[in-house]
Amino acid sequence: MISEAQQERKFLDFRQAFPAYSQGIYVNHAAVSPAAVFVRQRMMDFWQRRANFPVDIYPELQEGQLHFKEQIARMIHAEGAENIACVENTSTGLNMVAGGLEWKAGDRILLNTMEFPANVYPFLNLQRQGVMVDFINPEAGGLTLDRIVERVQPRTRLISISFVQFLNGFRADLAALGRFCRAQGIHLVVDAIQGTGAIPLDVQCWGYRCLGHRRPQVADVAHGDGFSVCRPPPSSKNGSCPGGMAVGQGQLEPVRLSP
Ligand SMILES: Cc1ncc(COP(=O)(O)O)c(C=O)c1O
Repeated sequence: MISEAQQERKFLDFRQAFPAYSQGIYVNHAAVSPAAVFVRQRMMDFWQRRANFPVDIYPELQEGQLHFKEQIARMIHAEGAENIACVENTSTGLNMVAGGLEWKAGDRILLNTMEFPANVYPFLNLQRQGVMVDFINPEAGGLTLDRIVERVQPRTRLISISFVQFLNGFRADLAALGRFCRAQGIHLVVDAIQGTGAIPLDVQCWGYRCLGHRRPQVADVAHGDGFSVCRPPPSSKNGSCPGGMAVGQGQLEPVRLSP
């Protein structure tokens, strides 16, 4: 158990890693955030290596990617690195889910009117295949499980929702929603970009099958390094694959190069 003074010291030491904080007050509103010196160093090391011999460092990159996935798996409590894919951003992850499932005309997707466009348009695109998209209106900026459940229809196959809403910070009860989705054979997709890295996240507790995420926005230093995690489909009584997806970003080492 560390004392309050030690905790304060630890915090102040960590703060030192962000040069921007000595230059002014930055109000981090979860869009873009200052880079830490260790992240900058890793990126510079990488480009230093890429500019010199040996030119082909592909095996090292693969090793670095595995390390990245292991870190992500630990952070979000995923089953393991093997379920995690590196994607550029949230939109890519969500488009992969929307485009990767097999849809039949008349299938339905349930969204809500608070979602960020990245969590809406990939699903609206499916309307061309005859898929219907339903929207729930929030009540007082929030959504209860009952409010979501009452809009579920027999052909609802997927519910997509944010871990933390970008508009007002609302957080739905994803553990309860995950249980409901599993029982009904509905895919649960979570846009986790807001909140990942700032709030503890346990994807297994959501009963997800697929979660997509870019670097968490509270630690959004360089665009283009995200991840998506999918769990193999559990068998369900009606043969469909209930699942989920979450998408986000974090100050993780982008690559690990040997010295
Ligand atoms: C909830 C949410 N989803 C997605 C994004 C961004 O999507 P992408 O990673 O595709 O740029 C943002 C941020 O701007 C967001 O707040």
